[in-house]
Amino acid sequence: MYQCNRTLLFTLLLLMIVVVLILTFYYNSETEELGNVVLLDNVDYDQQPQSYLDHDRLFDLRLRYDVSGENCAIGTPLFAVILVTSYFGNVETRSAIRRAFPKDSLRDLNATFVFLLGRKSDDMFVKQDAVLDEAHRFGDILQGNFREAYRNLTYKHLMGLKWASERCANAEYVVKMDDDIVVNLPEILKVLRNVKLPQKLLAGYILKDMEPKREKANKWFVTEDEYRDKVYPTFLSGWFYVTNPKTSRSLVRAVRGEKYFWIDDTFITGILARKVKIKHYNLGDYFTVHPEFLRCCMSDVSKLSVGCEVMIGPNGGDANLFFEFNRALGKCWKSGSCKKRDLPLNRTCVAERVVNLGRGTSVIEDYKLS
Ligand SMILES: *[C@@H]1O[C@H](CO)[C@@H](O)[C@H](O)[C@H]1NC(C)=O
Ligand SMILES: *[C@@H]1O[C@H](CO)[C@@H](O)[C@H](O)[C@H]1NC(C)=O
Ligand SMILES: *[C@@H]1O[C@H](CO)[C@@H](O)[C@H](O)[C@H]1NC(C)=O
Repeated sequence: MYQCNRTLLFTLLLLMIVVVLILTFYYNSETEELGNVVLLDNVDYDQQPQSYLDHDRLFDLRLRYDVSGENCAIGTPLFAVILVTSYFGNVETRSAIRRAFPKDSLRDLNATFVFLLGRKSDDMFVKQDAVLDEAHRFGDILQGNFREAYRNLTYKHLMGLKWASERCANAEYVVKMDDDIVVNLPEILKVLRNVKLPQKLLAGYILKDMEPKREKANKWFVTEDEYRDKVYPTFLSGWFYVTNPKTSRSLVRAVRGEKYFWIDDTFITGILARKVKIKHYNLGDYFTVHPEFLRCCMSDVSKLSVGCEVMIGPNGGDANLFFEFNRALGKCWKSGSCKKRDLPLNRTCVAERVVNLGRGTSVIEDYKLS
């Protein structure tokens, strides 16, 4: 009797070990494998592709998509999926971007836009129904189940990277930009086609030795509790940076064990990047902090047929500048006959304003005509 029990117990134990081993293996292979990219055009959470995050948890948020884009179809290799941090009510900026690059011109560029939105209660100006209409019409909206707020930007940014790495694994590059930025898209994509970039990729405007703002009055005020150290790790401006699906995935996975930090570019391209040992690649030469420089370029191209060395800059509050800049500079792109500028922009153009490059940082560079 006693003997029999021991055998039984032993068998049970063995069985349990086997089960545990199988489960561990299964779990690991599931978290390691991204799985097939599945195209879905509705928002049924349970039918979404297997996520590599436990229960889609980002910190205390169980992420769901209220609206999910349709633009990364199975099997179509794409050069770039462009994630645009937008805002529920920014209908105009989205419209300017779409007008600059309608569907067929995006196809020529081998790129697609995805606008990242959060939730907002209906207000006088924009209602959720309008956003749904927009999503239906253009199929380029990704809306998460968190409230639109400055302090929720990290959710929004991570949502974009996660979505792109799961749904657009077939894209060569993932570009992340803000919707108040002007980008000469054909030219910057040309740059990307012509440089050899590392596999672990974070390329953009590098911000080094930036310090947290400790004055309460500052919009970007950060408490010691939110961020303890005196300086931030090196990070990229969230205005515009380039990564790829694999790097996006490792950044999102690096969230595990971290505390939520609301300054999204610092957190993701700085704190998380340092954790997973990603170096930054400098594209700073293509950036300007002056919206005026973009306008100078627009006038120079029409008057003098000179190109623009600057490809990325702030729109300075003019939602339509993205469209106008690309239309003007498109002349150079199409004809390929624009000349190089003799003097740099800072010698020929008067800039009055400086727009902050990082969210919690300010780049003080006052350009004067010399
Ligand atoms: C789009 O880009 C991908 C990735 O670089 C490439 O494999 C594919 O051939 C491109 N397609 C077109 C139509 O250029
Ligand atoms: C961020 O989103 C969550 C989820 O919707 C919400 O509970 C929270 O209040 C939001 N944060 C801010 C600062 O609005
Ligand atoms: C003007 O721009 C050039 C490069 O375009 C740069 O080398 C130079 O330092 C800039 N000058 C000033 C005064 O910022």
